[in-house]
Parts: sequence; C-alpha cells; structure tokens
Amino acid sequence: MATPTIEDQMSIERGGSDDLDAVMAIMEQAFGTLYGEAWTRSQCAGILPMTGVSLRLANERGSGLAVGFSLTRSVADESELLLIAVHPAQQRRGIGRLLLDDFVDQARASGMRKAHLEVRDGNGAMAMYQDAGFTQIGRRRKYYHGSDGSTFDALTFMKEV
Ligand SMILES: CC(C)(COP(=O)(O)OP(=O)(O)OC[C@H]1O[C@@H](n2cnc3c(N)ncnc32)[C@H](O)[C@@H]1OP(=O)(O)O)[C@@H](O)C(=O)NCCC(=O)NCCS
Repeated sequence: MATPTIEDQMSIERGGSDDLDAVMAIMEQAFGTLYGEAWTRSQCAGILPMTGVSLRLANERGSGLAVGFSLTRSVADESELLLIAVHPAQQRRGIGRLLLDDFVDQARASGMRKAHLEVRDGNGAMAMYQDAGFTQIGRRRKYYHGSDGSTFDALTFMKEV
C-alpha cells in the first residue's frame, strides 16, 4: 500500500471564534516569545468577525485535532496572510505548505489578484514562501519588537495568484 501523503492525513477547513482555544494553544507553542510575532487572544478575537478575515485550520483527519492554522484578510483584490503556524511537534511534515497553498487557492478562487505576506527577516518560513513562488518586494525596518528590547526587520513578499 502507498505511504499516505500529508494531504491524506490533514484536511484544511474553515474555522471561527469557537476555535480560538485551539488557535491560541498552537500560537503559544509555535512562536517564540523573543521575536514579538505572536498575536494575543484579544487581537485574534477582535479581527475574526471583520469582513474579509478568514481563519483556516489544519485538522488531523480522524481525530479532527487542529495542529496548524492560518489567518488571512482580503481587501479589494488583494489577500494578506496575517499569521501561519503549525504546532512544533508537527512541523516539517508539509502542513505549513498545505496551509500556504490553501491561502493562495482561496485567494484565487475569490477573485483576488495578489497575495501578500510579511515575515521576520531570518525566519525559516522564508524558504517556504520563496519555494511557493512568493518574491520579496519590500523591507520594513525594526518592525518586530522582541521581548528583550531587540528589533527585527520585516520582509514583505508577494505573489500574483
Ligand atoms: C513556518 C511554519 C508555519 C512552517 O510549518 P511546517 O509545517 O513546518 O512547514 P512545512 O513542513 O510545510 O515546510 C515546507 C518547507 O519550508 C521550509 N521551512 C519550513 N520551516 C522551516 C524552518 N524552520 N527552517 C528552515 N526551513 C523551513 C523548508 O524548506 C520546508 O521543506 P523541508 O521540510 O522539505 O525542508 C512553522 O515553522 C511555524 O509554525 N513556525 C512558527 C510560526 C511562524 O514563524 N510563522 C511564520 C510567520 S507568521
């Protein structure tokens, strides 16, 4: 029998406010405190009801357990990836890439022209974005403020969808 692919093992589904506990559990584990990238629960709860905002969950088929998520916002004909995270115990299995491809697919399906995202300079996710066809179009200096007072540039990436 063929080895199950990550698509066989995970399904990407729409989430909502009821999933905030799962989202925050993943957020707290996935983002280190040093870089200032994680959002608070109230930031997430505040943005979720807004027009154009979408929460997508990577759920384990069978158990239904959420192991990753993305948060996106579409305005006019552009879609932005606000957050993407996978529980550390489940990283490097292709789940982040599934969520990223889902973001692009959703943007395309809803008639967007461009997909945007921002990432801390040096974050390993940059390789995933470049591999998926995103190109760097800008840099925001000292955008992230870490817990120890240090700052980090943000790089802006874009892909036509
Ligand atoms: C970024 C993140 C979502 C990637 O999730 P993932 O499930 O591990 O991603 P994938 O397994 O699909 O990785 C796809 C490819 O991206 C690259 N990649 C992903 N994470 C990487 C890392 N930490 N370091 C180097 N390369 C990385 C690799 O090329 C990888 O392919 P490979 O495993 O065959 O080498 C996950 O590392 C995460 O939650 N990080 C913390 C939160 C974060 O920084 N989010 C991004 C900014 S919002």
